[in-house]
Amino acid sequence: MILEEFLKKNAEEIDMELYNLFGAVSGELNKASAHLLLAGGKRLRPAVVMLAAEIIRKGSSRDILPAALALEVTHTFTLVHDDIMDGDSVRRGEPTVHCKWDEPTAILAGDVLYAEAFELISKTIAHDSAKIKSVEILARTCVEICQGQHEDMTFEVRDDVDSYEYIDMVGKKTGKLYAASAAIGGILAGCSLKQMSALYDWGYHSGIAFQIQDDFIDLMASSEKSGKDRASDLREGKQTLVAIKAKEAGVDLSGYRKENLTDEEIEEAISKLNKAGVIKEVEDIAMEHVKHAKDMLIILPECEERKLLSDITDYFITRGF
Ligand code: IPE
Ligand code: IPE
Ligand code: MG
Ligand code: MG
Ligand code: MG
Repeated sequence: MILEEFLKKNAEEIDMELYNLFGAVSGELNKASAHLLLAGGKRLRPAVVMLAAEIIRKGSSRDILPAALALEVTHTFTLVHDDIMDGDSVRRGEPTVHCKWDEPTAILAGDVLYAEAFELISKTIAHDSAKIKSVEILARTCVEICQGQHEDMTFEVRDDVDSYEYIDMVGKKTGKLYAASAAIGGILAGCSLKQMSALYDWGYHSGIAFQIQDDFIDLMASSEKSGKDRASDLREGKQTLVAIKAKEAGVDLSGYRKENLTDEEIEEAISKLNKAGVIKEVEDIAMEHVKHAKDMLIILPECEERKLLSDITDYFITRGF
């Protein structure tokens, strides 16, 4: 199967399951929690959970479907809170939760999703020991995401963040959730420690590459295409790898840190970055993480799902435009 077909089929299945679980909730808080979950999205973390499980044990993805949903629900919780922190108004082509409702409701809606993720994971059909390990990994991952998000915010008021600090920060805020998705899929399907570690490292490095591409999308893709606010990172003065490498190359982006950036100003910034070789330099770093991630897969059984997981890594840095 080609990756595009798999991702489409996976997204349809996850959409349907989420609709069955959250489509008819009552009460304002539950509706606010369900809002983004039902708004679509690429459903990439569940795709990773399902593929990892299938690599380890053919046919296991049915049993572990609640865990795939748990990873999407966790991801959505982080998005609801991230949009408050980043002051964004559009997500998955819809108004963000704090804009449609208000900040207190969005904080609580995120909290509800966070708790529901753990409830879902406990509903998986697997050995109790595998479920306990999965809960432990997901809990630790949530702590690490919070740490990464906190660094992301504190970096905004620093002007000396280097590329190593950036990689470490995005590794926590984004890499660890892909790492957990792959590892949990494998664990619930009965993988060995060595296989778990390979799946985890695949997710971690793929996730870093994914976030680098997300930063490019923020800058270069239209809001219609991304479903999110354009140039939010420039406006907020985020220390993305692009911003860090721009500074090293002597390109000053500080003038773009303002509300109401025009498309012309954004295009001007992109052209300066291209001329200074910044875009190419950042693409090369993303590629190193893709290569590292794919190397991790070699010890896993060779099968169609392993090929799809490898193809997802490439998709992570080509998607979005
Ligand atoms: C967005 O993730 C948040 C980041 C980690 C950059 P996705 O790009 O996977 O968003 P959805 O789930 O498709 O909406
Ligand atoms: C956030 O990164 C990653 C998490 C939600 C933990 P971004 O702030 O870049 O994500 P987007 O661009 O808003 O989706
Ligand atoms: Mg954001
Ligand atoms: Mg953010
Ligand atoms: Mg972003």
